Amino acid sequence: MDLMEKVVSLCKRRGFVFPGSDIYGGLQGFWDYGPLGVEIKNNVKREWWKTIVYEREDVVGLDAAIIMNPQIWEASGHTASFTDPLVECKNCHHRFRIDQVENHCPDCGGELTDQKTFNLLTEVYLGSTEPKQKTYLRGEITQGVFVNFKNVINSTRQEIPFGIAQIGKAFRNEITPGNFTFRSREFEQMELEFFIKPGENEANKWFEYWKKQRLNWYTRLGIRKENLRFREHAPDERAHYARAAEDIEYNAPFGWKECEGIHNRGDWDLSRHKLTHNDFTPWVIETSGGVDRATLFFLIDSYSEVGDRVVLKLHPKLAPHKVAVFPLVSNKEALVTKAGEIYKNLKLNLELNPAWDDRGNIGKRYYAQDEIGTPWCVTIDYQTLEDDTVTVRDRDSASQERLPIPKLDTYFTTKLK
Ligand code: GAP
Repeated sequence: MDLMEKVVSLCKRRGFVFPGSDIYGGLQGFWDYGPLGVEIKNNVKREWWKTIVYEREDVVGLDAAIIMNPQIWEASGHTASFTDPLVECKNCHHRFRIDQVENHCPDCGGELTDQKTFNLLTEVYLGSTEPKQKTYLRGEITQGVFVNFKNVINSTRQEIPFGIAQIGKAFRNEITPGNFTFRSREFEQMELEFFIKPGENEANKWFEYWKKQRLNWYTRLGIRKENLRFREHAPDERAHYARAAEDIEYNAPFGWKECEGIHNRGDWDLSRHKLTHNDFTPWVIETSGGVDRATLFFLIDSYSEVGDRVVLKLHPKLAPHKVAVFPLVSNKEALVTKAGEIYKNLKLNLELNPAWDDRGNIGKRYYAQDEIGTPWCVTIDYQTLEDDTVTVRDRDSASQERLPIPKLDTYFTTKLK
């Protein structure tokens, strides 16, 4: 199996990601996150929010509605320009994005039509009386920030330069979803819109600043430097709103692929919504990352094999469980009771989300935790009953140390810092 197949199979087997609508044969481009997947995805979002909002004084958060007045999408240019080039097979009528086919249909070899444009916005219809009101699921989460620009500035003490951060779902009627969660029709974005004084110099300064910040975020959370790079968009490739655009790309098993876009949107959006501030129209530097793509790339980058076993070397901050607790054997009541107490105590530290396992032998339990990226395992054995110490086993080095039970909480909290 290649790396991608292994990651997809691990995701389903251990409960990270399931195909959406699975029992009804699925629905192309939709995925459900399982008990472990929701944890890692929440951790990705939490780490992003901490870095972008909590660690700074010049960024505030927002959570705008997914469905908005359709005039917003007219003004933003999305109804006219949020398109992908599409070709259709004249024989089997399958449709493809132009960059994903050569001269003939990949499915049947048939002749392809000339290129057409295809709008990616997903239509929704509201109300109970006909004709229903047509609007759209948001194609990017961004417009909710721009239309609230005045509300935010009037209700906070922010002054330019400052940013508005948002995380939320976006929807695109992708022509060819694929590569697992990489290109989906429903996905989550984590975006910063950073408002600055107008002008190329100011924009270039902040563009470079945010590029660096965002690249560092991925490497700090464990992605190997050599697996990330910047790629500048050619002028004919840029989105309709962008004066400049660079992607942070990841070296995925299916090629170098976009993980996040950094854009100089100039005054495009605020001008289109006729919004100004102190007699000028601020420019915007945007960092727009995909939560699902980041999660997928964190999973791929941390996937490793030791012999025939999988070790997911996730950064501890991203791991679904930071700790697993095991009684050495499950049929000695004193051990199980003691382990249960330790487990309950660790559960009180809400950052740890400890796992419990008392099945099979200890070796198998270690391996099962390695596979889902749990950085530390605590085993309660006969010595514990005598001296209140436990063994703590480290996922990456497989080394073990003996620690007094009262020190456990501080030990893990310190490691996580
Ligand atoms: N507001 C700017 C914007 O939406 P984008 O480059 O179209 O820019 C930003 O999207 C990010 O959203 C991408 O870098 C990617 O991580 C994520 N993304 C875009 N389309 C996606 C899709 N179909 N499936 C999963 N993630 C997607």
